[in-house]
Amino acid sequence: MGKKKVGVLVSGRGSNLQALLDACRDPAYPAEIVLVISNVAGAYALERARAAGVATCVVSHKDYASREEFDAAMDVHLRQAGVEIVCLAGFMRLLSAPFVQGWDGRMVNIHPSLLPSFKGLNTHARAIEAGVKLHGCTVHLVTPDLDDGPILVQASVPVMADDTEEALAARVLEQEHVAYPLALRLLAEGRVRVDGNRARVDWPGGGALVNPVP
Ligand code: GAR
Repeated sequence: MGKKKVGVLVSGRGSNLQALLDACRDPAYPAEIVLVISNVAGAYALERARAAGVATCVVSHKDYASREEFDAAMDVHLRQAGVEIVCLAGFMRLLSAPFVQGWDGRMVNIHPSLLPSFKGLNTHARAIEAGVKLHGCTVHLVTPDLDDGPILVQASVPVMADDTEEALAARVLEQEHVAYPLALRLLAEGRVRVDGNRARVDWPGGGALVNPVP
């Protein structure tokens, strides 16, 4: 079976994009990135894509009157490139329902918390403030509701007593770079079956990564 063609949407530094690009260098990996779209022209993620020889384009939300028109413009690029799976990797725009529904079961996002806790922004500061002992990241299928949708992979990390937001963010980010390539692999290999709000993942541990293993 051929590799699944992947489009990645980015807005910033692109370290998760880099983790996916690195995974795709393995000939046995079941996906290849064919297009990276950024809504920010100066995003460092675009340089990472170019360095890897991947096609890029900039679609600025500022050029469109509505969210739907912006999303439709991205959709045209994705479809022209033959994209089969869309990965959101630090893409900081809300998406319209028609666009999301058009990629139902084929669009994934990484979020820096153990969902459904801490949806939205500033997740690390909020986790510290809440006094949780475990934090982490989640890769999930995208549905029209923000940071919702069936969970594919989660990785947990401890929250240390003296953690700063930066220290905790770095600990989580390291796990994001493990969790996202795994989740894309599982989806690309057809190991995900959606059952209501749940994703049944055909993988040892079912998509749970615990670091360090207790
Ligand atoms: C990552 O931590 C990702 O989980 C988060 O933005 C960062 C992007 O970093 N995403 C969100 O907050 C989405 N709501 P990166 O550009 O280095 O991959």
